[in-house]
Amino acid sequence: MPVITFANTKGGAGKTTAALLLATELARGGARVTVLDADPQAWITGWAQTGAAPRNIEVVSAVTAASIQGHLAEARRVSDYIIIDLPGARDTLLANALGFSDHVVIPIQGCAMDAKGGAQVLELLMRLEKSAGIRIPHSVLLTRVNSLVTTRALQMVKTLLAERQVRVLDTPIVERAAFRDIFDCGGLLQDMDAQRVSNLDKALENARLFAEEIRTLVPYRGARGQMRRAA
Ligand SMILES: Nc1ncnc2c1ncn2[C@@H]1O[C@H](COP(=O)(O)OP(=O)(O)O)[C@@H](O)[C@H]1O
Ligand SMILES: [Mg+2]
Repeated sequence: MPVITFANTKGGAGKTTAALLLATELARGGARVTVLDADPQAWITGWAQTGAAPRNIEVVSAVTAASIQGHLAEARRVSDYIIIDLPGARDTLLANALGFSDHVVIPIQGCAMDAKGGAQVLELLMRLEKSAGIRIPHSVLLTRVNSLVTTRALQMVKTLLAERQVRVLDTPIVERAAFRDIFDCGGLLQDMDAQRVSNLDKALENARLFAEEIRTLVPYRGARGQMRRAA
């Protein structure tokens, strides 16, 4: 049961949004997902409280540096995937969560190009590798990308990061109304009304491709050690 953590020491980078999109997509594919909500804004907890959330997503609230290990032990027994949504801070919780992760996703706001919060996480991961020999796989996720931004512009960012040996996910998360509204609606993107939410079809496809990429990077291995691909 892979642990996937969303980390960026800056708020507003799109961590919580991407974490929820991944959780809902994995759950839609049949996986049992636990979200450890360590974000003081507790948006995913709020989403779950709407009552429309699928039954195979469990949200654990008010996760702290002191409690995270216990929550993880509990979640490992019952989940196929564990997703950690961190606050936008550089603290003990961040260091602990990184150490427990199978993969760290670092959302960076694509258009603003303000990558400082992401760079701090990359720096921490590098330090862990140098001082403790622990290498935690990670990738940068470009988020809140303007739908008009060209593939060429994104390719340039990828090339820049690749020069520093940082993997960038192929699928950026585009700025979409659906990705804001899902928190109020509760449930899945698929439950939303295409008449009311603009470009819902594009949002659905975006979330699907993003989750597919993560699933390929961090596959769930079933009880018998076999790869299990959710339908
Ligand atoms: N892809 C997106 N499309 C539209 N709005 C987004 C998107 N990603 C984030 N937002 C909005 O930006 C703000 C910050 O996003 P959030 O996911 O909470 O970031 P973080 O968890 O890093 O602080 C929220 O208001 C959220 O609704
Ligand atoms: Mg957040």
